[in-house]
Amino acid sequence: MARSRRVAAVLSPALVTTAITAAVFTVPQTASAAPVTYQSESATISRGVVESNHTGFTGSGFVNFDNVTGSYVEYTVNAAAAGRHSLVFRYANGTTASRPVDVTVNGTPAVSGLSFPATGAWTSWQTVSTNVNLVAGTNRIRTTATSANGGPNADSLTVDVAGTEPPPGPADSPVALNGQLHVCGTKLCNERNQPIQLRGMSTHGIQWYSQCVKSQSLDALATDWKADIFRISMYIQEGGYETDPRKFTDMVHGYIEEATKRGMYALVDWHQLTPGDPNYNTARARTFFTEIAQRHKDKKNVIYDIANEPNNVSWANVKRYAEEMIPVIRAQDPDGVVFVGTHGWSTFGISDGKSETEVFNNPINATNFMYTFHFYAATHRDNYLNALSRIADRVPVFVTEFGTQTSSGDGGNDFAMSQRYIDLMAQKKIGWTNWNFSDDFRSGAVFKSGTCAGTSFAGTGPLKPAGVWVRERIRTPDNF
Ligand code: GCU
Repeated sequence: MARSRRVAAVLSPALVTTAITAAVFTVPQTASAAPVTYQSESATISRGVVESNHTGFTGSGFVNFDNVTGSYVEYTVNAAAAGRHSLVFRYANGTTASRPVDVTVNGTPAVSGLSFPATGAWTSWQTVSTNVNLVAGTNRIRTTATSANGGPNADSLTVDVAGTEPPPGPADSPVALNGQLHVCGTKLCNERNQPIQLRGMSTHGIQWYSQCVKSQSLDALATDWKADIFRISMYIQEGGYETDPRKFTDMVHGYIEEATKRGMYALVDWHQLTPGDPNYNTARARTFFTEIAQRHKDKKNVIYDIANEPNNVSWANVKRYAEEMIPVIRAQDPDGVVFVGTHGWSTFGISDGKSETEVFNNPINATNFMYTFHFYAATHRDNYLNALSRIADRVPVFVTEFGTQTSSGDGGNDFAMSQRYIDLMAQKKIGWTNWNFSDDFRSGAVFKSGTCAGTSFAGTGPLKPAGVWVRERIRTPDNF
């Protein structure tokens, strides 16, 4: 119906003239269009109140959504011309959970479940961005709370013509310097086809430690630790994704935006663990990765890790899963790099008593992907180190998890053995993310217990010994 009306309109002589006029006069205006900010307190509010009791807002106040599903703020905005526009919402969320909203434009769904992650305090204001299509002239942009907690405290909405490029991170950030990555031979290469090594941290399970992922901790990771990459560890079972797909997908969307703002690569980890056969979760993985890749396909910094640690499963079955899932992601994001875990908890079968040659002899039939390898230095000794060295000479490999302790993530640190792995990975440009960026009680969680309740994450003060050690190894200068 709508489609045939639009065809008719295009054929109308009056509208053709208008369109040509618009093309002549609107294009230069569009290119130089300035962003316009709309205050929430001037918007249409349903089940919400204007308040001013938390400092830091702009204008004369902000909207406190009622804590109910369905409360909304509707902004009436003007667009000089039809087309893609960026929406930047300024907000505060002093709780520890995201406050997602659905965005509609002129009554039509545009973005579902836009995540508004915790900002650390009601006086701490941040922005969340998305892109939507607007018609020329007046548009109604409605943000409706989708959870019983209502929306975040809404300060303003800034609308601008969307650029063709997504906003980059800081000018000297890892993403600004390297851009869209690709696999080149056995290495990961940047836009200039130069092999690079990325170093960073993995979260703990985001169903347990979301309090450790907030603006202050991510600022510390990007600017004090100088991390290149942030792994977002979303478990599937163990109280993760399968318990609330919408909530966990929204959390991941939000964390990707936070990494993007800070110029870090975002590694989206499908953290299947129990059961260990990734095929058990294929239907869920399809749903999740289709939405993630669709939403973030224009970004240059998203990497997809489709199987954390396959275990108690044959290599043939892991390969089958990978060959099914890689095309699902590529259908949305053709140039996205994909990582695939290997059998034996991502050890190329070594932890199953096998050898890496099983993978070499039966490789995944796909392009632009890397296998992954995990080790815990106090458990995984020379036979693992030597296997990693041989593997890196043969196939693309990324270490998406390692620890300086035993494979439980706990116990004494073996820094001498860990350093041998670090040296090997530096020499062969094997990228890595260390387990884990949380204040869990185990020795492998970098922060001392209780750190994540606060706001101080920079320096060595809040760190356990493993944290001090790995921060030092992330901070050393990159060679890109
Ligand atoms: C607190 C806070 C409000 C906020 C509310 C909420 O009451 O002071 O500004 O809107 O929590 O949870 O939504």
